[in-house]
Amino acid sequence: MEERPTSVWGSTRFWRKSAGWVTGVSALLLIWLSADTVPQISMRSAEDLDAGKPMRVPPPTVINHKITYEFDARRGHEIPIIGEKEAFFGRNDYSEEEANALLTHGKLTVQAKNCMSCHTLLGNGGYYAPDLTKAWLDPAWSDQGPYMAMTGTTSREEAMAKFLMKPSTYPTHARRMPELGITEDEAKAVVAFLKHMASIDTNGFPRNFAKINGGVNAK
Ligand code: HEC
Repeated sequence: MEERPTSVWGSTRFWRKSAGWVTGVSALLLIWLSADTVPQISMRSAEDLDAGKPMRVPPPTVINHKITYEFDARRGHEIPIIGEKEAFFGRNDYSEEEANALLTHGKLTVQAKNCMSCHTLLGNGGYYAPDLTKAWLDPAWSDQGPYMAMTGTTSREEAMAKFLMKPSTYPTHARRMPELGITEDEAKAVVAFLKHMASIDTNGFPRNFAKINGGVNAK
């Protein structure tokens, strides 16, 4: 009997081999990408920070430093710049343990009060209220913004802490943030947590931060 010529597209052998190759190559690619990413997204040490090494996720002791958000022409977006030492609630010498304890307390408070039901943190959460990833850098909290005067404070961290303890006293939006019964210690810890988060290099995320005129994040 004469054998009918079949095209390669109809060959089971061809598809089996292709599936094998595609799976194999993708697995290798994923392993390589993970190996490349993990060190970049891991928190660095206080020594690395003191040595001025470039990093994406600074250690908790970054709360001892001034953080600014500056446009990087090569990358096409803003990046956090860790600057000189700056007082945070009157101190700029938090040890690694103290800073770590503060951040952990802040994170637990954020979880306990379910801030993410309204806000997003690093993109996760609700869309009711502003993203908090860069909230610390929001010019609204600077001496140019309304919050320091409203709260009768002279620093970013005190203004934020006061707002968090009594948000309904300092409304700036049509949508109001509810009272969550946050104590002074919790507020301080949450602000430390937010300051650390703002120091993370998120490749310019959230994209429109600092560019919305008239928004909470407006420059
Ligand atoms: C029920 C929703 C809701 C919850 C829960 C909530 N917030 Fe808010 N938050 C808002 C709204 C709405 C605003 C904007 C209000 C304003 O500016 O007056 C806001 C504003 C803020 C701001 C100012 C944002 C900026 O970029 O300057 C911060 C900081 C903040 N919230 C932190 C928190 C933290 C921390 C928690 C948890 C402890 C929390 N919020 C829980 C609704 C909420």
